[in-house]
Amino acid sequence: MREMSIEYRHIKDEDFEEIAKLEAIAFYGRPREEDTALMRKNFQPEWTLAAFDDGKPVASVRTLPSVRLMHGTKTPFGLISPVTCYAAYRRQGHVAKLLVRSLELMKERGQPISGLYTPHDALYRRYGWERAEEKRSLSFDPGRLEFRTPAPRGKTRPATQDDWKTLDAIYRQHVDPLNGALIRVENWWRFFVLIDFESKGQRERDIVVWVDESGEDRGYVVYQNRPTGQRENGWPQQEIFLRDFVALDAGAYRGLWQHILTHDLASNVVYESHPDDPFVDLCEDPFVVTVKRGEGPMIRIVDVEGAIASRPYSGGSSASFTVRISDESAPWNEGVWHLEAGEGGMRAKKTDAAADVEMSVNFLAPLYTGFRTAETLAAAGMITVHRAEALAEITNAFAVTDPPFTQDYY
Ligand SMILES: CC(C)(COP(=O)(O)OP(=O)(O)OC[C@H]1O[C@@H](n2cnc3c(N)ncnc32)[C@H](O)[C@@H]1OP(=O)(O)O)[C@@H](O)C(=O)NCCC(=O)NCCS
Repeated sequence: MREMSIEYRHIKDEDFEEIAKLEAIAFYGRPREEDTALMRKNFQPEWTLAAFDDGKPVASVRTLPSVRLMHGTKTPFGLISPVTCYAAYRRQGHVAKLLVRSLELMKERGQPISGLYTPHDALYRRYGWERAEEKRSLSFDPGRLEFRTPAPRGKTRPATQDDWKTLDAIYRQHVDPLNGALIRVENWWRFFVLIDFESKGQRERDIVVWVDESGEDRGYVVYQNRPTGQRENGWPQQEIFLRDFVALDAGAYRGLWQHILTHDLASNVVYESHPDDPFVDLCEDPFVVTVKRGEGPMIRIVDVEGAIASRPYSGGSSASFTVRISDESAPWNEGVWHLEAGEGGMRAKKTDAAADVEMSVNFLAPLYTGFRTAETLAAAGMITVHRAEALAEITNAFAVTDPPFTQDYY
């Protein structure tokens, strides 16, 4: 039997064809000719790390450069999508090596935090990613829903892919002060928001803009109908999936929902909303709406020092504490850090002092995003506490004015 010798490196331009094949097959698809050209056009080769066996890629991890917004600040963000491996090469540690290498690369490239969506928590948790955001999944039969407030004045206007700049202006006005949205470049709008990504570029979504009485654009919704796979009285059933919903005021919020209710053929509407979205409270009968937990991304603090330096501070009083971080996959994060937070922002420096608390780098992610408080993590045993008063200081240092949320999927 031939001794296996695997090379790990970023891909070159000539590897795109094999990478497109690998990604299609790993996700049970079939490679299409146009995928290679699409990838070449949109992705730089050095964003994709791969394991090569005899010159052929067999596993891959792509890290797209993105930017995450938090209370008006921008932090470079390593957006991981996709992660793949041919079945014959799985459970041999190739993906693990690529994930660890991707952490080194993100650190070198100045991306102190990273995120990914996955159904495989147990895999990514080993390398430091942790659940640190969530959505609230709403679904309801539009025929049964009535609102408590009257329809506003104003109207909807259809838009197309080429209106992405109009949508982006509304989006940025809405998300800039919030916590967790990504900055969207043109390609992101076109391929991940305005097209159903799973349709491989075939299916454009519907877009409407809300125009208020004075003629100003005040919100938009991007949505698509999709078959549920069921039939009723012989009719194939459809549901409406809301991909993106932004309202800058109450009129736009109510008006855009009214528009969605006009879709009489749909037996269901699905939307993964902000965790604080008041939609249910606006309904005559709240029990018409089924509310479930919707998954957000897993987040990874790649570089403690860089991530803390770019994090805005929203606490009430200044804080100073020490925390021991353990991080097998990114050893530069290991050790005791002295964190300070106050009106001037936040910073972290390595120290020889004793640690007030200890945690794995995983749990720094939900603290950092404001998804969990120090007290909650400590109560569940996810933080080891040596100085109890430090918990309130940590919570104060990582306070947020809004829970973490993104409407994007990746
Ligand atoms: C998910 C996938 C990338 C994992 O690849 P892999 O080659 O098995 O990964 P590795 O061998 O490097 O795994 C590293 C470690 O994680 C473990 N692991 C792998 N997949 C896991 C999973 N789904 N759940 C829990 N642990 C997992 C491995 O057993 C290994 O543990 P070990 O170090 O104790 O042996 C691969 O199964 C795949 O391509 N699946 C189809 C596409 C997909 O789901 N991509 C990811 C979407 S987020």
